Amino acid sequence: MKILIASSIDSEAIKQLQEKHDVICAFNADEAKLKALIVDREVLIFRSGVQINAAVMGQAPQLKFLVRAGSGLDNLDVEYAQSHEIKLVRVPQPGAKAVAELAFAMMLSLSRQMIRADVLLRKGRWIKSELTGFLLTGKTLGIIGMGNIGSRVGHLGKAWGMDVLGCVEHPSPERAAAFLEKGLRLTSCEEVLETADYVSIHVPLKDSTRNLIKSPELARMKPGAYLTTLARGGVVDEQALYHELTAKGRLAGAGLDVHLQEGEGKISPLAKLENVILTPHIGAMTIDSQREIGSRVINLMESFAKENEL
Ligand code: MLT
Repeated sequence: MKILIASSIDSEAIKQLQEKHDVICAFNADEAKLKALIVDREVLIFRSGVQINAAVMGQAPQLKFLVRAGSGLDNLDVEYAQSHEIKLVRVPQPGAKAVAELAFAMMLSLSRQMIRADVLLRKGRWIKSELTGFLLTGKTLGIIGMGNIGSRVGHLGKAWGMDVLGCVEHPSPERAAAFLEKGLRLTSCEEVLETADYVSIHVPLKDSTRNLIKSPELARMKPGAYLTTLARGGVVDEQALYHELTAKGRLAGAGLDVHLQEGEGKISPLAKLENVILTPHIGAMTIDSQREIGSRVINLMESFAKENEL
């Protein structure tokens, strides 16, 4: 099969694909480069960081199969793919484990001022008395978007002795009962924002979630609460968050793995603040998760080749 791999995936998986197929690798290419490389391709494998729009797919008359080696579909024109009968498969589960753990790591780091402690100690500063923090145990964890990733964050919260509540876009009594069986309480977004000590955002980026968390929503959060987002840049209004993090008596800190502007050389306006942790969209970047995604991609390719006698 003629495959274009447009984002970096596990190197072992790439090697195995290269042994059996005609593979072009071009990671994070711009539109012009993608358009040039995709012309004769039958399969496209991609992650975040590239825009797979109609103009790009329109250059590839033989394109039959799209593999999203991860979760989000905000960088793909799904309507175009559907209307041109291009099969689409996502591999969301392995990355979800890693994203949930990073969300938790951020909450712990923020609560215990770990980054500040490390930076200062490297300069010889032993300010033990200033480096107090908070327990997560006994606190309320609020999840905005209790789906595949958000519910995993909730389970970690339960294991840590937190009271967990969350909201979803389409609540129902059945979903509420299923969550409750696992110790997670489904409620409104308003209640999540108003009662949680730690709010963690895990919604996909789409029209209904763009700027979902802006000034009025942030203003609902408790004084001293923490916010983490591992969803997508554009879900949280960064200017409004900056304001809440610098206003006296408002939010204690924030952790962001996703940003409005992403990529080499881009610096978030929040980088000026000490009570913020910023990471470069590394939520799914554990070796374990990427290996698992890689081996699932191989299996998908084998089944697709068999089904289509390629
Ligand atoms: C995802 O949606 O799976 C994550 O953003 C990871 C990625 O593909 O870069």
